[in-house]
Amino acid sequence: MNRISKNSLRAVALACATLAASAQAGEVEVLHWWTSGGEAKAVGSLKATLQAKGHTWKDFAVAGGGGDSAMTVLKSRVVSGNAPAAAQIKGPSLQEWAAEGVLANMDDVAKAEQWDSLLPKVVSDIMKYKGNYIAAPVNVHRVNWLWANPEAFKKAGTKVPTNWDEFFVAAEALKKAGIVPVAHGGQNWQDFTTFEAVALGVGGTEFYKKALVQLDPATISSPTMEKVLTTFKKVKDYTDKNAPGRDWNLATAMVIKGEAGMQIMGDWAKGEFVAAGKVPGKDFVCVAAPGTAKAYTFNIDSFALFNQRDAEKTKARKDLAVAIMSTEFQETFSLNKGSIPVRLNMKMDKFDDCAKASSADFVATAKTGALVPSIAHGMAVNSAAEGAIKDAVSQYWNSDKMSAKDAMGKIALAAKTR
Ligand code: GAL
Repeated sequence: MNRISKNSLRAVALACATLAASAQAGEVEVLHWWTSGGEAKAVGSLKATLQAKGHTWKDFAVAGGGGDSAMTVLKSRVVSGNAPAAAQIKGPSLQEWAAEGVLANMDDVAKAEQWDSLLPKVVSDIMKYKGNYIAAPVNVHRVNWLWANPEAFKKAGTKVPTNWDEFFVAAEALKKAGIVPVAHGGQNWQDFTTFEAVALGVGGTEFYKKALVQLDPATISSPTMEKVLTTFKKVKDYTDKNAPGRDWNLATAMVIKGEAGMQIMGDWAKGEFVAAGKVPGKDFVCVAAPGTAKAYTFNIDSFALFNQRDAEKTKARKDLAVAIMSTEFQETFSLNKGSIPVRLNMKMDKFDDCAKASSADFVATAKTGALVPSIAHGMAVNSAAEGAIKDAVSQYWNSDKMSAKDAMGKIALAAKTR
């Protein structure tokens, strides 16, 4: 046998081995927007879980907090007939995608793994379209948090606020001490995250539900909404001039370093503190956003699977869905992400006090009716109305001329978008 034929035999043997392996293993292309420090660590645990089952992870990360860019890219991929295997899609958008007929029915996995009994009903309802599971839930983020640097507060001689009056007293003191009072960034979803916190804190739970979940025109045009908008705009006076264009995690970094005193942001911010080696209760503190201690704006991350013809890929995707709901993954992922497990009856002993509080408050607010979907994070209304209201809120935030009354008119109009 000459050299060439030996080599080609070796190549054939290798090809056979590869084929044999790929009979059980498949590639899963996963679209997400988790690129910050804490987010990347969390998504790394999902990748490792899938790889441990012999599958290949094809990373489809589209940077941009809140996922607006990722959703735009996803649309163009699906329209061109080239959908990824799995994508992070959340809230009512899941139903919108399912109505297009492009999402896989996940009932076989959900039934075998008993998801109905492992998930709170508020969660499983979001994961279903016409009674069938179309997504696997990953975690629960609480959005109405305030993150603070205790050293900065000490320097400024002020205390971490629990209501909006105290918030502005603290902001003034931080400013006098030469510290940026509020770390803020430049994308409209960051403005919207602050706006919904103010709406909940100033208006209360019933107002929030009527205005931002039911989109009730009378509530959107009410004096309470005017007060919410005025308070919201006042927050801007305490942000720095470099906020426009800044990513949310860079704003969190300002609080980590003590350049800024506080940030209003969901608990993915905790993922950044933790990734930077910071300890809750010592290096940073988490408290409910001003005036919202008894309420909870929830944001549930989830993955939907797109229909695939390829049998190997289908097996890999099913393994992904099973892995997402496993107790080990639920724990590891949320420890890195700053969230809490979505699966019921999970042990919380490895979690910090912020997560323990989030977990207890999730259960408590579900009973009192103060567990509300986050509009800024795609949980409350259809995606078209959400986008339009988000734009109106940011226009108001960025304009020196628009009055609160003008903004109310714009929001009312935006709320009608379908
Ligand atoms: C949210 C998402 C979170 C988080 C955040 C910032 O919408 O649900 O998982 O990472 O955006 O990117």
